Amino acid sequence: MENILKDFNNQLSKAQNQNEIEKVRVQFLGKKSFITENMKTLPNLSAEKRGQLGKDLNSLKLTFQEAINKKVDNLEMAAKFTPIDVSRPGKPLYKESRTGHMHPSSLVLKETYRVFTELGFAIVDSPEIEDDWHNFEALNMPEIHPAREMQDTFYIDKSNKKLLPRTHTSGMQVRFMKQNNPPFKIIVPGKVFRNENEDATHSWTFGQIEGLVVGEGVSVTDLRGTLLEIVKKQLGPETEIRFRASYFPYTEPSMEIDAKFKGKWLELGGAGMVHPQVLINGGIDPEKYSGFAFGWGVERLAVIKYGITDLRELWRPKFDYLEQF
Ligand code: DAH
Repeated sequence: MENILKDFNNQLSKAQNQNEIEKVRVQFLGKKSFITENMKTLPNLSAEKRGQLGKDLNSLKLTFQEAINKKVDNLEMAAKFTPIDVSRPGKPLYKESRTGHMHPSSLVLKETYRVFTELGFAIVDSPEIEDDWHNFEALNMPEIHPAREMQDTFYIDKSNKKLLPRTHTSGMQVRFMKQNNPPFKIIVPGKVFRNENEDATHSWTFGQIEGLVVGEGVSVTDLRGTLLEIVKKQLGPETEIRFRASYFPYTEPSMEIDAKFKGKWLELGGAGMVHPQVLINGGIDPEKYSGFAFGWGVERLAVIKYGITDLRELWRPKFDYLEQF
């Protein structure tokens, strides 16, 4: 039996395909195999010998069957995973292969970075997960403040509402003031999150540009001049802006900025003179320094600029649509 087993292992290891495996199976498990021939002799043996030989033959049979099954499985696996030629050109995903194209929001962002840096602004990053203090409290929005309602949001932990996905990038104002001395001019781009139902003009997440300028003698005139310059650069030299009185807890006075683009007044965002308490929260002396701040949506600007009627189009994978811009 040992010799038979050796022979079997030897032959099976040489078998390369299903046919050759089948031949090995017939040879070692078929009608004329050592096992079958010896099985036939069992009835003629004494009970004791029959028991022993029967057991040995069965165990050998099992060994053969298992080894054959394993080999067949391995071959099938190998056939499934044919080697890949990683140097071959990829299959086009969409009709024919085409070069990439900047998304309208990215186009607007890229331009935003350019026009602000031309005016000497620095681009500053801020954490996407903000704490309640920076996002709300430091901006004069204590927990009971009704202005929080407009920025209803998700919380990281509902039972302890201390950390949240930022509702605006204005949360960076006090963070930055604490770490930097005036004068400074910054923009803070980034994604923000709100508990908002989606429609043509709203989304639960969108991009924002926050702006903050602090220095000695900074006035509303500077705010107006800066924003007009920016808007002209982004929407065209004939663009006009107007301010409408508004309210934000972190600016005084506060205003809504509209841009007149292609003959129509469109709401762009909010702005105002930084509230003295916000400066104090940032460790800046409001007697010596003043500042202005503003904020608007990246997609809002893209929508105005490209005449998009439904904000949601920007997040749909419709290449024909998105490539027009
Ligand atoms: N944080 C406001 C928002 O998300 C936008 C804004 C308004 C930012 C006025 C400002 C500001 O800095 O002065 O709706």
